[in-house]
Amino acid sequence: MRVCVIGTGYVGLVTGVCMAEIGHNVICVDKDEQKIKMLFNGKSPIYENGLEELIKSNVTNKNLVFSTELAGAIRSQEIIFICVGTPPLPNGKPDLTALDEVSRLIGSYINGYKVIVNKSTVPIGTANRVKKIIKENLNGEGKGYSFDIVSNPEFLKEGEAVYDAFFPERIVIGSENPKAVEVMKKLYEPLIRQDFSYAVNNINRKSDIPIIITDSTSSELIKYASNAFLATKISFINEVANICERVEANVLDVTYGMGLDSRIGTKFMRAGIGWGGSCFPKDVRALAFTAEEYGASANILNSVILVNNYQRYKVIQKAMDMIGIIEDKIVAVLGIAFKPNTDDTREAPSITVINKLLELGAEVRAYDPIVKSCPKEMDPKATITKDVYEAVKNANLIVLVTEWPEFLNLDFGRIKSLMKMPNIIDGRNMLNKSKLQELGFNYKGIGI
Ligand code: UDX
Repeated sequence: MRVCVIGTGYVGLVTGVCMAEIGHNVICVDKDEQKIKMLFNGKSPIYENGLEELIKSNVTNKNLVFSTELAGAIRSQEIIFICVGTPPLPNGKPDLTALDEVSRLIGSYINGYKVIVNKSTVPIGTANRVKKIIKENLNGEGKGYSFDIVSNPEFLKEGEAVYDAFFPERIVIGSENPKAVEVMKKLYEPLIRQDFSYAVNNINRKSDIPIIITDSTSSELIKYASNAFLATKISFINEVANICERVEANVLDVTYGMGLDSRIGTKFMRAGIGWGGSCFPKDVRALAFTAEEYGASANILNSVILVNNYQRYKVIQKAMDMIGIIEDKIVAVLGIAFKPNTDDTREAPSITVINKLLELGAEVRAYDPIVKSCPKEMDPKATITKDVYEAVKNANLIVLVTEWPEFLNLDFGRIKSLMKMPNIIDGRNMLNKSKLQELGFNYKGIGI
């Protein structure tokens, strides 16, 4: 099938590559010329395991083309994925400027029956909004043509985006028109069959990926409610972790004991410094905003956000407990990305923690295996070091913020000898507490 993907961010790029790999003819469009040039040369603008190889192979076999020419792509393709960003405005409401603009352009270029698919996470009611804008912008020629809107949310996780795109746990199709649903089913057929080369010999190959057919609003809500629920699980266990600290219980044992109940499960139950990233913060706020806008309550959602914010400042409190006055102390922060295996720093806990430590007068040295420069929201007074050992030199405290696997293999004996005081806050409960204590570290985790 002929597919156009508008926007080459995380969702757009991965969707485009996935569609090409399963055998469709894909044009990915972005107005950012630099990015398109880069992609054209087989380079991925984002770090995602396996993505660059797939871009290269699909560009070579001509299933995948990158372009800045929206008009031509809309005219030649039958399915148009909208994958532009909807970043949060200061009040929590998603900014729909890019989405509105793309909808206007689609309207003015339409030249036949098109299925327009909202793939990025968009606010409840966006399917209707896009439909209205496209209708208003159909030009003289386009007025004779028809189109349908589909909500088809993406559930990929950063760092595992390629895997999630090829082996989804479900495909959600929300549309008011059965004709569009049939087009979408046909589009996903190779993915359901799992007979494309990437899947054939893969141990993760799935045999029965469920397709959920629903109305567009329910589909939009499935995405928000899923992310909000996962964030709720994490905030819940973080609250339990804080109780554990007061009553001297161990959150790891508590979580394990709870998680064996299959109704609860152990996933998304890792207590720590809290959630960040491009999705959870934005989506929980957006859902709370929608709830309030429509006169429903958002008590749980608002608490989930509060607990998460508190969790970051709890680490600062722990730092104060360990080293007293923060002013003039040296703090080494391990991990800048919001989670491992990604270079994404959006709403990363590291930013809040580092900015607060700097505000309190500390000297902060941060290390991340992939992030090599100060994110724009981070106070540039933070020094980014080339390795962990440089970061910990003469430090009074280490704060581990991101659970990069390589932190498990650090030479903690050497680290201790380099530090001024062997204090460590393990914001992800990833290190071996008793081993570090044996080495002479003063160790604090979260709820352990
Ligand atoms: C999330 C959803 O998982 C995905 O389905 C959706 O499409 C986009 O949002 P992502 O933001 O890439 O994906 O990361 P995820 O792995 O879900 O982690 C989100 C945050 O929760 C991270 O900050 C992570 O550190 C934190 N987290 C996760 C915990 O603190 N504890 C956990 O047990 C799990």
